[in-house]
Amino acid sequence: MKHLLKLFDLTPGEITEILDLADELKAELKNGISKPRLNGKTLGMIFQKSSTRTRVSFEVGMYQLGGMALYLNANDLQIGRGEPVEDTARVLSRYLDGIMIRTYAQEEVERLAEYSGIPVINGLTDLFHPCQVLADLMTMREYLGKDLTGKKLCFIGDGNNMANSLIVGGLKMGMKVSCACPENYHPAKVVLDFAAAYGDNFTLTDKPEEAAVGADVMVTDVWASMGQESEREQRMAAFKGYQVNDGIMALASPNCIVQHCLPAHKGEEISYEVFEAHAKEIFDEAENRLHAQKAVLVKLLG
Ligand code: CP
Ligand code: NVA
Repeated sequence: MKHLLKLFDLTPGEITEILDLADELKAELKNGISKPRLNGKTLGMIFQKSSTRTRVSFEVGMYQLGGMALYLNANDLQIGRGEPVEDTARVLSRYLDGIMIRTYAQEEVERLAEYSGIPVINGLTDLFHPCQVLADLMTMREYLGKDLTGKKLCFIGDGNNMANSLIVGGLKMGMKVSCACPENYHPAKVVLDFAAAYGDNFTLTDKPEEAAVGADVMVTDVWASMGQESEREQRMAAFKGYQVNDGIMALASPNCIVQHCLPAHKGEEISYEVFEAHAKEIFDEAENRLHAQKAVLVKLLG
């Protein structure tokens, strides 16, 4: 593994290795053991979009590993004034040991990696959010057992970056994945083409009540992602009926856990009741961003 650009690029074995290491790093931290596995290493973090979790967990993660992270707001970089990503990649490669980037186009991340001499990590694009899904898979293993084979993951809502990465990650880990998305808000074509090879393990419907049946993990995400603010009204109308609420949860397995990458819009994609009843799992998921990303950093920069 040279970069983490999307889960497509990882084998199930590589994903499992990251998750096993994440468990180990979490246990070490809880037991007060600190091993500076990335002593003196530096990570540059380019942000074109807002962030709470990604920024803080990467920054703290690098510190805990003995290295340091630099927050680079794209508006303050020359990239914000048009310096090509290819040149930015080659310059940053002369100073840093790794780059994390959060931006709009997946192609930008891929181009950055192509020209970079150091590992590049995708911290969210319009298409994918691989770091989040590694944390989600880690949390699922904590609640459902290490072997996720045959467990049912249900995603209800927008076929966005989270849906795309969950489908790829879930299927690679042997899960059954069911998605309920409105007609015009399906997951990306590349993802649906990938999922087609998994036969009955993947289903896509426009009926949340159908997708939810027997789910072991229920996942949802905002109806308007970063960059889609102007579509808000139209999206609120399109996603009516796609809320994860008590009615939907009643169709899932009795021990079904809920995951939400956050930030959540309670009362929209998820009801207050379901969110608060499953807050433990959701905030475990947020915490696991730290541990899962530390594992990625050790694998790539170590
Ligand atoms: N889930 C997630 O990526 O959160 P932030 O946008 O706060 O980084
Ligand atoms: N789908 C959301 C995820 C935020 C972490 C977005 O892209 O805004």
